[in-house]
Amino acid sequence: MKNQDFIDRDLAVLWHPCTQMKDHEFLPLIPIKSGKGIYLEDFEGNKYLDAISSWWVNLFGHSNEYINSQIKNQLDTLEHVLLAGFTHEQVVKLSERLVKLTPDGLEKCFFADNGSSGVEVALKMSFHYHKNRGENRPYFISLKNSYHGETLGALAVGDVEIYKKIYNEIMIKTIQTPVPTNQTIEATKKPLEDLENLLKSRSHEISGMIVEPMVQCAGSMNMYHSDFLKGVRELTQKYGVHLIADEVATGFGRTGKMFASEHSGISPDFMILSKGLTGGYLALSVVLTTNKIYQEFYCDYNLEKSFLHSHSYTGNALACSAGNATLDIFENENIIENIQDKIQYISDKLEKFKDLPNVKDVRQTGMISAIELQGYKSEERIGLNIYKFGLKNGVLLRPLGNIIYFMPPLIITKSEIDKMIDTAFAGIQELTQ
Ligand SMILES: Cc1ncc(COP(=O)(O)O)c(C=O)c1O
Repeated sequence: MKNQDFIDRDLAVLWHPCTQMKDHEFLPLIPIKSGKGIYLEDFEGNKYLDAISSWWVNLFGHSNEYINSQIKNQLDTLEHVLLAGFTHEQVVKLSERLVKLTPDGLEKCFFADNGSSGVEVALKMSFHYHKNRGENRPYFISLKNSYHGETLGALAVGDVEIYKKIYNEIMIKTIQTPVPTNQTIEATKKPLEDLENLLKSRSHEISGMIVEPMVQCAGSMNMYHSDFLKGVRELTQKYGVHLIADEVATGFGRTGKMFASEHSGISPDFMILSKGLTGGYLALSVVLTTNKIYQEFYCDYNLEKSFLHSHSYTGNALACSAGNATLDIFENENIIENIQDKIQYISDKLEKFKDLPNVKDVRQTGMISAIELQGYKSEERIGLNIYKFGLKNGVLLRPLGNIIYFMPPLIITKSEIDKMIDTAFAGIQELTQ
């Protein structure tokens, strides 16, 4: 089989996510035959270093032997059972471990099956909590430039225009408040003042505030100082509004700590996890929350007070076994400690981009780094050209417009970091002369 066979069959029957399908008239799809470690391989034997962890999910490489073995074991035991009225070993074990690992105060796990659904769960729970206490608070706050997924509730708290604008008329009620636009402490001050002013006048109608801790990933990899998150926690507490930490992208070591909230030493009222939760293997998400919130729903028969939200694949046993295998690897291989050296290595390598004339900014938080290019109109599609250059040279980069970023699997080696970063550097040099 050749790539083209699959391309033709695919285009006859598939509609791909986040894609203008007509682009595939000039931009070939890449059918992937297999994956091993941080490489993907197509049907013609071309290999691509997965510098974006297949949309930020993969942590320990493709076809990881240990995770494979744990899923295979589970497959012969129990593949799935509904989680209403039933439970199973893997989901109990995973929940116990997550409660221990996440910041103090997060004691209960509610499962769903993707990041956006996790966001919906947290928003609904937050609103419903206030309802159960006799308060109507129909608004949510989120940060400017934020991204929380594509289902309608998640889209409504997001603020990336290309995804949201067209659907504005069918959105739930949200307010976007300023976010720091760089990583200095100075940049946190005005956004915190603005937030306090907003909360002072409107907290009675606001259920919660949702944030991406430390890095707004889909929002051009905008990064901010940990003091901002600390300030947000203090203010939300002061004004009685929930803080929802969306760690779908930043969780599981991406920022150099297990969870990005740890950089600020805060504990949110809700934490949403997905992506790395299963090491990048299977669709699963979880919302962790406090006993205080849980107790507000705990009562004798009363359908209105109960949280009647469900998804068919909630807490799937295979996905939970991948989750437990992922946490085993974190524990057994001291992953968080071991990536510190790689983070420094990436930081050193990024220095050379700062001398390029068309580089506006270079930023990094842990294993996530980004190079912002300047001087291009959107129709020039500089990101697309870098993407094509990367593929030709065996590296899967997927720029966000003029932002070239790296979010590789945590197991990447130094020589693979060299290949990833040097390829991007060569691409920027060649295409932006
Ligand atoms: C911060 C954040 N929240 C939520 C989501 C949505 O997750 P999913 O794509 O699994 O629905 C994403 C996806 O990229 C994300 O980055």
